[in-house]
Amino acid sequence: MSYPYQIKSLEQYKEAYKQSVDNPDLFWGNIGGYFQWKRRWEKVLEWNFTEPKIEWYKGAKLNITENCLDRHLKTLANTPAIIWEPNDPEEHHRVITYKDLYTKVCQFANVLKSNGVKKGDRVCIYMGMIPELAIAVLACARIGAIHSVIFGGFSAQSIADRLYDAQAEYIVTCDGAYRGAKDIPLKSVIDDALIGNRTVKRVIVCTRTRTAVSMIKGRDVWWEDEVKKVETLGLVDCPAEEMDAEDPLFILYTSGSTGKPKGVVHACAGYMVYTNYTFVNVFQYQRGDIHFCTADIGWITGHSYIVYGPLSAGGTSLMFEGIPTWPDAGRFWDIIDKFKVNILYTAPTAIRSLMGFGLGPLQGKNLSSLKILGTVGEPINEEAWHWYDEHIGKKKCPIVDTWWQTETGGILISNLAGVTLAKPSWATLPMPGVQPILVDENGKEVTEKEDGLYKGNLCIKAPWPSTIRTTYGDHERCKKNYFSTYENLYFTGDGALKDEEGNYRITGRVDDVLNVSGHRIGTAEVENAINMHAGVVESAVVGYPHDIKGQGIYAYVIFQGSHGDEAMRRKDILQTVTRIIGAIAKPDKIQFVSGLPKTRSGKIMRRILRKIAEGETQNLGDTTTLLDPGVVEEIKNGKI
Ligand code: WT7
Repeated sequence: MSYPYQIKSLEQYKEAYKQSVDNPDLFWGNIGGYFQWKRRWEKVLEWNFTEPKIEWYKGAKLNITENCLDRHLKTLANTPAIIWEPNDPEEHHRVITYKDLYTKVCQFANVLKSNGVKKGDRVCIYMGMIPELAIAVLACARIGAIHSVIFGGFSAQSIADRLYDAQAEYIVTCDGAYRGAKDIPLKSVIDDALIGNRTVKRVIVCTRTRTAVSMIKGRDVWWEDEVKKVETLGLVDCPAEEMDAEDPLFILYTSGSTGKPKGVVHACAGYMVYTNYTFVNVFQYQRGDIHFCTADIGWITGHSYIVYGPLSAGGTSLMFEGIPTWPDAGRFWDIIDKFKVNILYTAPTAIRSLMGFGLGPLQGKNLSSLKILGTVGEPINEEAWHWYDEHIGKKKCPIVDTWWQTETGGILISNLAGVTLAKPSWATLPMPGVQPILVDENGKEVTEKEDGLYKGNLCIKAPWPSTIRTTYGDHERCKKNYFSTYENLYFTGDGALKDEEGNYRITGRVDDVLNVSGHRIGTAEVENAINMHAGVVESAVVGYPHDIKGQGIYAYVIFQGSHGDEAMRRKDILQTVTRIIGAIAKPDKIQFVSGLPKTRSGKIMRRILRKIAEGETQNLGDTTTLLDPGVVEEIKNGKI
């Protein structure tokens, strides 16, 4: 059985696209018809980008978990919903059917309730990649609590900031997490994050590594004990809370070009419809296919294409606890062989890193089950694209290059596997309902070609169902960040090229946001962390091309303390960044300088610093407006 709204040919794509633009209400109204609602909508779409106010399926009532679980029970009760592969290949994998998942989600939803969680409350989830993470997410959605998952690599300080911003009263975590050869002490990080916190009432701790943890009376409880309690009470089902279409489903923090990370808010109905629609169409999902998305649920990719998209489509989602290079660089290929994976969705950085191990790790691995490959998170270079195509897809699997963002909720620009044409390093065509536009700095549409291509800042003209609704607690910030740069447009922060056929190639961020191994990091955020070090006077952070990570982090630092030698100071700075943000934000290079190139008005000229970090010291452009041009010479000579 397939999906009635699955696009099967280029003609159908063109037709769907045209209808979605000409009559979005009709188009998305039809697709909405394939979901389970507690009450139908009064109006499909109402919007303006000035406030902004975006409402999809207005007036409708639903619960996303009824669409992910209950409605599949009749036909898919014994179909695997989640297949879980542990970090250690010697440990047994788990298969969780739709029936099992329904039961576990209801049980944990009852646990949340019995611990006081109510509709609208914020629940912070800080766990490793175990099935209980997906269960916790769905259990929140079941009772209408707003989940905010924090990736396991973030520090206590980052968690504390997010807890405060979301005013979260509940936390779900694990004792620890396994990732490759490492055990990560999650609960202990949470304990640090909670020092001085007066808002959090309850911490529910799931057992995974059974490392020693402190359990504070009155605050901390074990997941397993709580589940037993609700079992004893005979609670099996948990009614799905009736949610308004526009009620927030979750908050997910992401980095911007300024200040602290912002809490991107997605709404129940639009997010459900759009992640399902894109999952089914981009990956051309067929019933029974095993979909392996290698992202962590701590990022939007995991939310949309491990949990909500696949499950709302009745699909089988493979969830992997570990990392691609442990115990060796053949781990992904072992998993594909073991479970006969049909769709692999991963990041260019992983492909490049695995490429580096040569073909040895592929020896003896049967990848013939693969039908479709996908990439996400950063531009994919042609070399990596061809390696993926040749050695993983054996030249018979279409590759989808999916461009999107935390704020977009789902894929906006991508080819549809085997349906529309792939073009190496091009994300290609917009999804139905998505209207991109390239504009110049003044917001004027780019109409002149440069070397045969249109080139500009990528914006979107109208809302798609999973458009960001607000930034939690600060709507003004949402407006300013995304809807004010250019009037009546959503600004993505990316630059792009477009060809004559309407294909898009994303060239990367045009703001001060870095993309390191597919992780989004703001330069200002890293600078703030470096500046926390007692000996640091000032710093400037830029990105530079990195063979595997895509971008590396280069920090220029003015240091004044007398403590330690340079090597020691570097280590201290790295330790500071790890404390303040997390290891993912550690600079790859730190260069100590006596000054930074500034204009007379005191603005750091990052353009120059970027060029030096890229190793291009010749054409630095106009430096005459600098306060002290001499500092550039010094920085150039000291480049590391
Ligand atoms: C930024 C969004 C979307 C899930 C993962 C990242 C970059 C994302 C692509 C792609 C080129 C891409 C953009 C975007 N990006 N996908 N296929 N080709 N660039 O989500 O952390 O919100 O980051 O990732 O620069 O703005 P995110």
